[in-house]
Amino acid sequence: MTRTSPRPAPKSFHVKSFGCQMNAYDGARMAELLEAQGMTAADGSGEADLVVLNTCHIREKAAEKVYSDIGRLKRADGSRPMIAVAGCVAQAEGAEIPRRAPSVDIVVGPQAYHNLPALIEQAREGRALDTDMPVLSKFGSLPRRRAQGASAFLTVQEGCDKFCTYCVVPYTRGAEVSRPWGDVIDEAKALADAGAREISLLGQNVNAWEGVDDKGRAQGLDGLIRALDRIPGIARIRYMTSHPNDMRDGLIAAHGEVESLMPFLHLPVQSGSDRILKAMNRSHTAAGYLRLIERVRAVRADIAISGDFIVGFPGETEADFAETLALVEEVRHAQAFSFKYSPRPGTPAATMTDQVPPAVMDERLQRLQALIGAQAHAFNRASEGLVMPVLIERNGKKPGQRLGKSPWLQSVLVDSDVALGTILDVAIVSGGPNSLQGVVAQAAAA
Ligand code: 5AD
Ligand code: SF4
Repeated sequence: MTRTSPRPAPKSFHVKSFGCQMNAYDGARMAELLEAQGMTAADGSGEADLVVLNTCHIREKAAEKVYSDIGRLKRADGSRPMIAVAGCVAQAEGAEIPRRAPSVDIVVGPQAYHNLPALIEQAREGRALDTDMPVLSKFGSLPRRRAQGASAFLTVQEGCDKFCTYCVVPYTRGAEVSRPWGDVIDEAKALADAGAREISLLGQNVNAWEGVDDKGRAQGLDGLIRALDRIPGIARIRYMTSHPNDMRDGLIAAHGEVESLMPFLHLPVQSGSDRILKAMNRSHTAAGYLRLIERVRAVRADIAISGDFIVGFPGETEADFAETLALVEEVRHAQAFSFKYSPRPGTPAATMTDQVPPAVMDERLQRLQALIGAQAHAFNRASEGLVMPVLIERNGKKPGQRLGKSPWLQSVLVDSDVALGTILDVAIVSGGPNSLQGVVAQAAAA
């Protein structure tokens, strides 16, 4: 029997994450794990011995992208790095991936990436696949958090039990699970020690988070937020994404009471038509959603509202779509994401009759995005003349420029040389469609 010697162990890696912030978080944790193994981060996929494609399965376009990306990893000399497909495409398609793309060495699901070191070892001899959803969470096997910059993600909840009829998440990320109180607090402290000033709590249904605190009391997300608020160094807290049905009284109240909880709420509604909401299995109505927004605004009048919308869900008529536009008119968003409906294999909506023709979807998406864009621009223009605290996160393109975030999650460009991580008072001079420009407040007063 002939036996080929194993491939050399990869020394450098590059993780490329697509899709949502939970994937960005998972990508950061994979990088920490590989570095803890003694590997170094390469500048890009061209330089790396191992490339991890951390994929998204939410819409067809995102899911198909992985195959063109794999093709692009082949180098001019015909060689290629060790290739790992991680994330939700890995979970959904599993062994189908190497059948379609034989150059893939590792397939690893979002609940199994703590096993990457062992999978890499295995892949030196042949292909390695792990899409288990273990009962014990991966989090216990990951190294302590490192510096993540001024703003850091922290996944506190994963999975979804809501089963909206269009959505793959309940299948790719599994059932709703909350990370334990103590684990979250410890990770937040580690992030604060590493220099994070802002923590964004992540979860597919983050506001469904529940746990038991260190005194044995049952807590919801609001209790967790109040505890994080007491950690020295953490000046800002955000959370996303939320479901309207899990928006409990305590969490709404926290928006009026916890100063570090930023005035921003990402609360997807998907459609303004009750008929479509029912077909989507959203279990709330448009009016119920609007009442919820009113209650949040009653405790925090300036809160910025963001959302997600799907146009062209099966059976959506022009009248249904007009109801979506009417809802958007009423909410007045600071920003929102909108997507054309994409049928996903295995979801109930994919086999519904009455699929909407692509041209109709295109046209509706354009109208919706024009309206949302106008609202976002109006929201930014309303910031002109205000002085606001901006968390400086990055250097701007030009020397002496810094980029940061307003409390309302607007990007702010300011001429300043302050250290990253500073919270700087900025006087807003102009509000564009996507960002604000300002000057350091003292300079403005001088
Ligand atoms: N088609 C289009 N958009 C979708 N989303 C989820 N599933 C689909 C789908 N099949 C959108 C929803 C969700 C966001 C993350 O992606 O708006 O809130
Ligand atoms: Fe998908 Fe609905 Fe769950 Fe959100 S709430 S992850 S849209 S099934």
